[in-house]
Amino acid sequence: MAAPRLEGLTAIVTGSSSGIGRGIALALAAAGARLVVCADLNEGHVTKSTLGASVKASHGAEMASRALVAAKDSDDSGDTPTHELIHARYGKERAIFLRCDISLEKSDAVNGIFSIEYAVQEAVSRTGRLDLLVNNAGAGIMDIPLHEMTAAQWNQCFAVDSTGTFIATKFAVTQFLKQDEDEHGFRGNVINVSSVAGSAGLPGCSAYCAAKSAMLGFTRSIAIEYAERRIRCNAIKPGYIMTPFLHKIIEATGDVTWLEKASPFNHLGQPQDIGNAAVWLASGRESGYVTGIDLSVDGGFLAR
Ligand SMILES: NC(=O)c1ccc[n+]([C@@H]2O[C@H](COP(=O)([O-])OP(=O)(O)OC[C@H]3O[C@@H](n4cnc5c(N)ncnc54)[C@H](O)[C@@H]3O)[C@@H](O)[C@H]2O)c1
Repeated sequence: MAAPRLEGLTAIVTGSSSGIGRGIALALAAAGARLVVCADLNEGHVTKSTLGASVKASHGAEMASRALVAAKDSDDSGDTPTHELIHARYGKERAIFLRCDISLEKSDAVNGIFSIEYAVQEAVSRTGRLDLLVNNAGAGIMDIPLHEMTAAQWNQCFAVDSTGTFIATKFAVTQFLKQDEDEHGFRGNVINVSSVAGSAGLPGCSAYCAAKSAMLGFTRSIAIEYAERRIRCNAIKPGYIMTPFLHKIIEATGDVTWLEKASPFNHLGQPQDIGNAAVWLASGRESGYVTGIDLSVDGGFLAR
């Protein structure tokens, strides 16, 4: 029998409690990862349970039922936190949860919130190394016209999506440089979850588009800077993926049709779609000659 695709891999996934991060953490574990460090500000998994009620209240029963049909996802795992789901499916040693804020350079002991430096230490103390960092945690600032946006709102978006990605990557790369190459000849690997918004303009989203675009430049730069030291860095650009982040947009507009039509397939993507792409990029055997790319997983959104 062939070995699992990611056998022996130790990974940190930021923003792992919800949506795309949860999809990535579950996909890495399913592909055989030895340890997934689930690093998120919140432990609980937010489900779509309030979506139908809130859309019904604001936009009526028909819209609510349309929203719920669109929100039907491939992850029927309910409210169980991501790391507990991995425990139940694959064993207790395969995941831990740490309350982390990716934008912290130092852990906040008073409030019990860790920096990603602590997540790296935990990964190394349990398995001896860190193979992969997935920078997924993100904060979208949506629907604010530029002329109404404050510098605080702009900075809030950049603090997580852009600066948080830099801080987390710095801690991971520091560890990668200390360790030997793995069986595929790599010291470490970074996957940045950007967005189609990193390549396309979206109205009311200038801060988000700029921050996600910055992630793409960062990805290319890290790929070049560390290639000789056998560290890879790639980005994924998801299109519209059904997650709690998107539920908020649907609740605000009461309509999913325009989101579905963003893809020529006329339907939304699922967290598992991004998880599948992350597994491929995580595998030195399968994507070992790939670095510095941004991979659109968007149902054709950017092809138009
Ligand atoms: N859903 C989409 O359609 C879509 C499309 C393109 C890109 N993205 C990107 O994918 C990523 C995940 O989005 P999602 O839709 O799953 O969102 P989500 O809101 O469902 O989940 C985001 C998770 O990140 C965590 N988080 C936020 N700030 C954090 C911080 N400072 N430190 C640690 N954890 C933090 C949240 O607690 C939450 O669990 C984001 O970077 C987002 O910009 C999403």
